[in-house]
Amino acid sequence: MTRFYGELAPLWPLVSPVEDYAAETAELIDVLRARRPQAKTLLELGSGGGHVAHYMKRAFECHLTDLSEPMLECSRRLNPECAHAVGDMRTLDLGRTFDVVLAHDAIDYMISEDDLRAVFDTAWRHLAPGGLACFIPDDVTETYGAGTGVSGGDGADGCGVRLFEWAEPAVPGRTTVDVHYAFLVRDPSGDVRNYYERHATGLFPRGTWERLLAQRGFSVEVVVESTKEDRAGRLLFLARKPGAEA
Ligand SMILES: C[S@@+](CC[C@H](N)C(=O)[O-])C[C@H]1O[C@@H](n2cnc3c(N)ncnc32)[C@H](O)[C@@H]1O
Repeated sequence: MTRFYGELAPLWPLVSPVEDYAAETAELIDVLRARRPQAKTLLELGSGGGHVAHYMKRAFECHLTDLSEPMLECSRRLNPECAHAVGDMRTLDLGRTFDVVLAHDAIDYMISEDDLRAVFDTAWRHLAPGGLACFIPDDVTETYGAGTGVSGGDGADGCGVRLFEWAEPAVPGRTTVDVHYAFLVRDPSGDVRNYYERHATGLFPRGTWERLLAQRGFSVEVVVESTKEDRAGRLLFLARKPGAEA
């Protein structure tokens, strides 16, 4: 378990405010609804603090899963009406199916083609016939750029956090990129502590996503997100499982 999603998980609402997800999730709901107008149930893999789910639950009955119990605890506070379960997106088996399976930025933690294959298997076994999976990596090789960023904010009780993020350049031929995270955390008494952590994240060409999804049996469509944020639009990999919708 990383410190980011373990001991520091309660800071997630300050690190990545839920309001920041409103625009992208509105577009995501439109994209999914246009292709599965009747869809009712959604399984999210790597739902973290539930900020994406906070908006998705307005359109779907959401079942939220993540590797980290502390992140799910944040999500339970925000989304008490949703079902929550701890699970690794590579091995999860809830023994039931859904109309939609979604993996948002958490899929960045898949660092090999075997990892991606395992997640696509998970999506397949949780999708009803005709169901739609949606995978939204932050980047593919073609859109990736090294860089830095600062985020964070202050809580009502005097606590606060500032997070410096430094993404290393991609190395040709490698499917991983290191991201460094440096936290400054102020507790309500005013004491400030610092933490550092390195995360290995996955980076794959668009063609790798399309090839592995097709090999699993999905029909694949790629939609480019039309964001107004200061970044390239993410690619939405939409993967339809064959069969007639219920
Ligand atoms: C950036 S957070 C996701 C935040 C989320 N999009 C939200 O709306 O709050 C990344 C999440 O990926 C989860 N994660 C990493 N590896 C995972 C795996 N193998 N299976 C499931 N979740 C995983 C982490 O525990 C963390 O909660």
